[in-house]
Amino acid sequence: MAENINSNQTLYIALAKGRVAQKALEVLEQLGFEFPDYSKDSRKLVFTDKSNRVSIFLVKSPDVPVYVEKGTADLGIVGRDILLEHPADVYELLNLDFGQCQMCIAGYPDLEIKFNKKLTVASKYVNIAKNYFDSIDQPAEYIYLGGSVELAPVLGLSDCIVDIVETGSTLKENGLIVKKPILDISSRLIANKVSLKTKNEVILPIINRFEEVTKDENN
Ligand code: PRP
Repeated sequence: MAENINSNQTLYIALAKGRVAQKALEVLEQLGFEFPDYSKDSRKLVFTDKSNRVSIFLVKSPDVPVYVEKGTADLGIVGRDILLEHPADVYELLNLDFGQCQMCIAGYPDLEIKFNKKLTVASKYVNIAKNYFDSIDQPAEYIYLGGSVELAPVLGLSDCIVDIVETGSTLKENGLIVKKPILDISSRLIANKVSLKTKNEVILPIINRFEEVTKDENN
């Protein structure tokens, strides 16, 4: 398909480093784009395909919508968690159905969430946490942490956490359990609003192919 794209425009795609980038690259390779210098262990951050039609760059997941909103990237692939936590002025085009996990409230098995008793909640996702607890009128105070959030209840910094749970092994290994799943999360294809018009010819076949791959994997 790469050779069928009749355009001199290079398409820039921001990908969240890690598993999402790996999966997105597999799809781009199925489209005929080849990234010979890519390897998951490389420290390089920009990779351009052999035909110079697509350039991908690898960034931290919260930065994907930033690059796309500003137009430095035309497309981006990032988790729904990031889009909810850091809303951006971009088009959300497709639910790609990979990178599936859940946003959960987690804590010690004996944690009781008592209505009207203020909870202390640690999270990388304080906006998502606050939206949830506000929606059930649960008073809470929030502590932002940048990672290893499971430590907070273990060390007595918070009563509970709001965090991503994928396999559940991080919780298990730290003696915590899911108290309540609050959101289903998966990867989303997002686009810069201007690029979608000006680079339509390059972007549409890629959107269609991502859509087909998503459908195939669900059947
Ligand atoms: C994420 C998340 C949990 C863990 C969940 O952390 O914040 O800690 O993965 O995965 P699991 O259910 O498969 O164990 P990440 O690996 O991104 O690192 P972090 O602690 O630095 O946020």
